Order: sequence, then C-alpha cells, then structure tokens
Amino acid sequence: GLLRPLGSLFLMLIQPAWINVLREDPVTLMCQGTSFYGGNLTMWFHNGSSIHTQNQPSYSFRAGSNDTGSYRCQREQTSLSDPVHLDVISDWLLLQTPSLVFQEGEPIVLRCHSWRNHPLNKITFYQDGKSKTFSYLRSNFSIPRANLSHSGQYHCTAFLGKSPHSSQPVNITVQDGNEGPAIPLIFSPWYQITFCLVMGLLFAMDTGLYFSVQRYLQSSMGDWKNYEVRWSQDPQDK
Ligand SMILES: *[C@@H]1O[C@H](CO)[C@@H](O)[C@H](O)[C@H]1NC(C)=O
Ligand SMILES: *[C@@H]1O[C@H](CO)[C@@H](O)[C@H](O)[C@H]1NC(C)=O
Ligand SMILES: *[C@@H]1O[C@H](CO)[C@@H](O)[C@H](O)[C@H]1NC(C)=O
Ligand SMILES: *[C@@H]1O[C@H](CO)[C@@H](O)[C@H](O)[C@H]1NC(C)=O
Ligand SMILES: *[C@@H]1O[C@H](CO)[C@@H](O)[C@H](O)[C@H]1NC(C)=O
Ligand SMILES: *[C@@H]1O[C@H](CO)[C@@H](O)[C@H](O)[C@H]1NC(C)=O
Repeated sequence: GLLRPLGSLFLMLIQPAWINVLREDPVTLMCQGTSFYGGNLTMWFHNGSSIHTQNQPSYSFRAGSNDTGSYRCQREQTSLSDPVHLDVISDWLLLQTPSLVFQEGEPIVLRCHSWRNHPLNKITFYQDGKSKTFSYLRSNFSIPRANLSHSGQYHCTAFLGKSPHSSQPVNITVQDGNEGPAIPLIFSPWYQITFCLVMGLLFAMDTGLYFSVQRYLQSSMGDWKNYEVRWSQDPQDK
C-alpha cells in the first residue's frame, strides 16, 4: 500500500477520545510530541484563528456550541499538528465515536451518551437501521476487529428515566487494510527493508573497496620494492 510521509511532529489528542460531545461535556485537547526546545509554549488554533488565552500543551474546557470546529496546535517553532474536528451537539442522546474512519482490523468502541450523564437504560445500538445489541445498562458497543461490513450509519436509542430518546446517526467508514494505515514512512517495513538493503550494499561496497585498495597498495608496494631493488642496483651498473 501507499504510505503517507511523517506529517508533523506534534499530535493533537482529545481526552476522552470522542470527537463528538454534548454541550457541557468536559473536553481536554493535548498537544503531544517530542519538543527539541524543552519548553511548553503552545499555540492553539480553532478554525484557523489563534486562541490567545491558551499557551499550555493541554487545553481543557466544558464544551459549548461555539466550540465546534477544527483544532490544531503548534509548539516551539515546529510545524502545525494535523487538524482534529470536534463536534458539539445539543441533544439528549449522542452516539460517540473516537473517529469517523477506521482501518480494517482495528477495534471500534462506540458509546451511547446522555446529556449531563443522566442515567440511561434499555440501550440499543443500530447499524443502518438494524438493531445490533440491546442492553439494560451497558452504554458501550465494541467491535474487536473491524471489517468492511462494519461501515454504515450508526445510532443508538435509550430511555432516560421513562422517556425514550434516539441519537442522530453517525456515518462510520471502515477502510480496506490495503489502503494503508497512516504509519509514518520511517516506521514502515518497506522503508526499513530498503534502508537495510542500502546500508548492506554500502557496507559491501565499502568492504570491497577496502580490500581492493589494500590489494592495490600491496601490489604497488611490491612494485615499489622492485623499483627500490632495481634503483639500488642501478649505481652498480655504472
Ligand atoms: C512542561 O509541562 C510538564 C507537564 O505539564 C511539566 O512537568 C514541565 O515542568 C513543564 N516544563 C516547563 C519548562 O515548563
Ligand atoms: C458564540 O459566538 C457568537 C459569535 O461568535 C457570540 O456572539 C456568542 O456570544 C458565543 N456564545 C457563547 C456561549 O460563547
Ligand atoms: C468553526 O467551523 C465550524 C464548521 O467546521 C462551524 O460550525 C463553527 O461555527 C465555527 N466556529 C467558530 C467559532 O468559528
Ligand atoms: C466504554 O468505552 C470507553 C472508551 O473505550 C472506556 O473508557 C469505558 O471504560 C467503557 N465503559 C464501559 C462501561 O465499558
Ligand atoms: C466481519 O466481522 C463479523 C463479526 O464482527 C463477522 O461476523 C463477519 O463474517 C465479518 N465479515 C467479513 C467479510 O469478514
Ligand atoms: C451518511 O450516509 C447516508 C447514506 O449512507 C447519507 O445519505 C448521508 O448523507 C450521510 N451523512 C453524512 C453526514 O455524511
């Protein structure tokens, strides 16, 4: 498969990992990576505009409807992180997901979440309108290894007390494993195999060169010794 090159040094993470939240949910954005400069000074961007009040690597807030949009971070003169989109929804119930796109074989955990964590019961998860699981109290739905058949439109229903509620649908896509996970180029097996082959070749060439130089030197030393012998013999010829 094709491999994406290493995009940026810093990764933006959301804690908890859901990319969609309800109003008033606590959200922490974290700018993680290795800083060569040692400092923590961080710039945060929401929809491309800098958030002047924030300069630390972790940024916590209670979600408001204005917080929807794409976030990026930047630390200490390095490049911007890839954007992460956060959706803040006004509703009683929300099907939460850590991503809209998964690779084949990856685990998927979805959560049926209620506004202000009101107690839920009789929770059902649906894929393309068909019920997948029902539980009296479990609000998570796990797929240990995603395959292409797990792509689709998901939603959940539940009772908050005695009133039934339904979440808006969320479209989830599972990609063919051959489309390639977003692993940085330097960690890909093909890169490493190529790297080893090139290094091996260089080593072989180097070693070959060493021996041929040594052989050349030995043979020219031999010639030189012959010259020396001949040269020292010359005066006697006179
Ligand atoms: C950067 O933040 C980390 C964790 O928040 C802290 O342990 C460290 O002391 C901070 N470094 C500087 C230079 O402020
Ligand atoms: C949301 O943004 C609008 C316009 O930017 C502003 O008028 C409004 O006060 C903001 N609301 C909150 C709750 O921050
Ligand atoms: C940010 O962009 C999103 C669309 O991606 C929009 O819904 C939201 O209102 C924008 N928020 C601000 C504060 O610009
Ligand atoms: C639901 O999933 C989240 C995220 O994986 C996890 O943190 C949480 O513990 C799970 N809850 C239950 C009840 O399994
Ligand atoms: C996808 O996974 C489900 C279990 O989650 C399994 O029943 C199904 O056979 C799998 N489909 C394919 C095409 O592998
Ligand atoms: C989700 O998928 C359905 C059908 O598969 C489509 O009609 C709908 O527009 C999609 N919604 C979004 C937000 O992409």
